Amino acid sequence: MCGIVGYTGMEEASPFLLNGLRKLEYRGYDSAGVAVYNDTGLHVVKSKGRLSVLEGILEGGTKLPGRVGIGHTRWATHGAPSDVNSHPQVSDGGKFAVVHNGIIENYLALKNRLISKGVTFTSDTDTEVVAQLLEYYYDGDVLSAIQKVIQRVEGSYALGILCSEFPEKIFAVRKDSPLIVGVGKGENFIASDIPAILAKTREIYRLKDREIAVLSRETIEFYNGEGEPVEKEIEHIEWDISAAEKGGYEHFMMKEICEQPEALRKTISPRIRDGHIVLDDIELTAEYLREINKVFIVACGTAYHVGVVAKYAFERLLKVPMEVDVASEFRYRSPIIDEKSLVIIISQSGETADTLAALREAKKQGARVLSIVNVVGSTIANESDDVLYTWAGPEIAVASTKAYSTQLAVIYLIVLYMAEKLGTVSGKEFAEYVADLERLPEFVASCLNDKETIQYFASQYFNAKDMYFIGRNVDYAASLEASLKLKEISYIHSEAYTAGELKHGPISLIEDGTLVIAISTYEKLFDKMVSNIKEVKARGAVVLGITTQRKRKAMLDAVDHVFCVPKISDFMLPSLSIIPLQLFAYYVASMKGCDIDKPRNLAKSVTVE
Ligand code: AGP
Repeated sequence: MCGIVGYTGMEEASPFLLNGLRKLEYRGYDSAGVAVYNDTGLHVVKSKGRLSVLEGILEGGTKLPGRVGIGHTRWATHGAPSDVNSHPQVSDGGKFAVVHNGIIENYLALKNRLISKGVTFTSDTDTEVVAQLLEYYYDGDVLSAIQKVIQRVEGSYALGILCSEFPEKIFAVRKDSPLIVGVGKGENFIASDIPAILAKTREIYRLKDREIAVLSRETIEFYNGEGEPVEKEIEHIEWDISAAEKGGYEHFMMKEICEQPEALRKTISPRIRDGHIVLDDIELTAEYLREINKVFIVACGTAYHVGVVAKYAFERLLKVPMEVDVASEFRYRSPIIDEKSLVIIISQSGETADTLAALREAKKQGARVLSIVNVVGSTIANESDDVLYTWAGPEIAVASTKAYSTQLAVIYLIVLYMAEKLGTVSGKEFAEYVADLERLPEFVASCLNDKETIQYFASQYFNAKDMYFIGRNVDYAASLEASLKLKEISYIHSEAYTAGELKHGPISLIEDGTLVIAISTYEKLFDKMVSNIKEVKARGAVVLGITTQRKRKAMLDAVDHVFCVPKISDFMLPSLSIIPLQLFAYYVASMKGCDIDKPRNLAKSVTVE
C-alpha cells in the first residue's frame, strides 16, 4: 500500500516529509518521492528504491527548501518500479504534482483520450492520468478541476495535490483509500495513515469518500464532491505508534484478515467489464486455449493450496486436465511439459526460490508461463510470459491471508475467462458465476462479522495438542490451508485429510477429546461428510462444523459447534470457509501467546532452497 504525507507551515517541508514517509515504511514500497514548492517554483525529487536513496539525494531534506510539500512511498501496481513511475506524478504543463494511493481502473481509456488531445505522458502509471486531467480541466479554480476529475475517474484513490499557482496550499481528496488531515498550530498535514503525523499532532479529520480538503498553514476547508462546504468532526488519536502502524489492530495478521474484502474488490472489479472478464493486457485466444494439452499450477505453501482449489474449478468448468504440484517437487521430477502446456505460477512475494526454479524449468521445456503475483516487478513476475497481479497491497504477516484470498480470486477470473472463450459453460451459468464473483468481497465481509463465535471456540480448545481438519472436494482443498494457518502460528500439530481417507488409517489417531474441524460447505457431499463426522464422534472427537446457512440445522445435529458461511458457486466456497479458520488460527495463537506476525523458524519470503 502506498504512503502519502503532506505539510504546509512555517518549517521546512522536506525533513518532515522524509520523517513521515519513514514512519510509513512498514507498509512496504519500492520507490519514494517528494514535491516541494518554494520561491523558484514546484520541484519534484523522486527515485526507485529505498527511502534512504531519496534521503541521500535530498541530503536529509536540506537540499530542497520550501514550506509546502507532499511525499509518497510507492507500492507499484501499474508500471514497474522505476524513477519515472515513482510519485509525485507531474502534469504536462508542470502546474500539478500528485501523489496517489489506490488504483484508477479506467486510466487507460482516459489516458488515450488525453493523448488524442495532445497531452504528453511520461510514465506507465495510472496515477499520471490524474495529474494530466487536473491540468486539462484547470481554468484557475483548483477545486472545480478536482470535482471534474473525480466525476470521471473510476476506482480507488487517496490523492495529495500541489498546484504551482496556489503555492502555500495542499489539496486532498479520497475514495476507497484512507486519507486523513492533521491539525497543527500554524501548520497542517495530510497523510494516508496516522503514524506519519503522530509526532506532530493527535488531532485529525478523516476524509470521507469524495470529500475534498484544502489546507493552508492557518486554515483547513472541506468540500463535498459538488464543491459545497462541509463541516467535519475532529478526532483525538490515543494510539501509540506501534498500534498506529497496524491501523489499531494488535497484529498485522488480523489487519490483513480484515483487509480481505477491500483487497478482493481491488483485485476483481477492474477485471469485470459489462459482465465479461478482462485479464488486463493478457490475450489468451480461443485458438490458443484449444491447443493446450495440459495446465500445471506450481507453487509453495499457501500458494500451492490455491492450486489445489484451482484444480476443481479448472476441471469442472473447462474440462482441461490439470496437474498441481509443489515447486520443490516439480523442479526435480522431470515433468512432461511442452509448448502446448500452460504453467501457472503462484507466488505472493514473487521471489520464492523453489517457485522461481520451477518457472525456469517450465520455460526451458517450452511452456508458456502465466504467473499470479502480489509484488509488482518481482523476479517471478519479470520472468513470466504473462502476469496477473493480486492487488492485495503489501502482506506483512508471515502467515498469508489476503494473498490467499486474492490469488483464489484471480484463479476464478482466469477460469471464467477461459470458460467464456471455450464456451464450456452456458451463458446463464457464466452470468451466475460472474455475479457470485462480484459479490465475493461482500460475502467475505459477512464471514468477518461473526468473529466472536470463532473466538469463543478458540478459547475452548487453544490448549489442544493435535487438531485435524477434514473435508471432501473443495472443502478438502480449504482444509489444507486451514491446517497450515493453525500450525504455522500456534505451533499446534495439525493435519488435513480427505474425509474419505479417515477409515484408511488416520482414524486411529482419534481418541476422547480429539479436536476435528469438519469443513462441509460443498453440499453435494454433505451427507457423506455427516457420515465421516459420525465416525470420529463415535471415537470421542469434538467437532466444529463449517457449513452453509442452508445446512446449519443438519450440521448442528451432528457436531458440537457450527459456523456458517453464505452459499456461493461451489468452486468459490474455499474463499468463504477459510475466513473463520484464519480467525480460528489467529485466536488460538493469540491465546497461546505466540508471536503471531513473526512465527518461529519462518520467513515471509523463502528465497533459499
Ligand atoms: C503461508 O502462510 C506461508 N507464509 C508460506 O507457506 C508461503 O505461502 C510460501 O512460502 C509461498 O510464498 P510465496 O507465495 O511468496 O511464493
